[in-house]
Amino acid sequence: MRLGVNVDHIATLRQARLEGLPDPIALAEEALAGGADGIVCHLREDRRHIQDSDVVNLRKLKTRLDLEMAATSEMLKFALKVKPDMVTLVPEKRAELTTEGGLDVVKQTKKLKPVIEKLQKAGILVSLFIEPEPRQVEESAVLTADFIELHTGAYARKPNKTELTRLSMATEKAKWIGLRVNAGHGLDYQNVHNIVQIYGLEELNIGFSIIARSVVVGMKQAVSEMRRAIG
Ligand code: PXP
Repeated sequence: MRLGVNVDHIATLRQARLEGLPDPIALAEEALAGGADGIVCHLREDRRHIQDSDVVNLRKLKTRLDLEMAATSEMLKFALKVKPDMVTLVPEKRAELTTEGGLDVVKQTKKLKPVIEKLQKAGILVSLFIEPEPRQVEESAVLTADFIELHTGAYARKPNKTELTRLSMATEKAKWIGLRVNAGHGLDYQNVHNIVQIYGLEELNIGFSIIARSVVVGMKQAVSEMRRAIG
């Protein structure tokens, strides 16, 4: 299981005072030293945490960069310029504290298709952040996404067998129809244990719990503890 570490909330702290500290790039390097397999960041329309220059600088690190973004023409233009290894398309609402719910790919096929095509044509892998629902998985394959990322938020909030089964069935279906599968959102040092048992998942993308832990033990240690938790 690979671990992608999301550094958004390092930037959240920096933006609180605009003093240039803490530096998401330096802490991304610490995360890599602690065992992260790649770095993830979300460039939001309102630039509340990660800034354009952060993405440009993260791209210079010798690691895989997964850029989360909304499927807008502004973000598409930016992604084609920076060329991350992967773009994860996410829904975005201005008022939300964090990404609420998955992308409704069934309803947004027309909007997503040209964005996916342009990114893939530029050699960028495309992942769609979706709820673990059969129709969303099927439509992701129709849209020829390379990956889906299953939204683990409902499970993370209230770990239970029904949600875990939804996640494992969505993974199985996705693999069956040729999609590669990542998962993330709300995962922490405890609730991650059952998620790693889901056969077929390639990568977990984890941000908040690692960043919160890093305040106590430092980034390298926080990532290596998560590394140990996910095996
Ligand atoms: N995956 C996606 C697509 C996300 O939008 C987020 C939140 O930015 C995460 C994973 C990480 O979630 P968390 O910060 O709760 O670990």
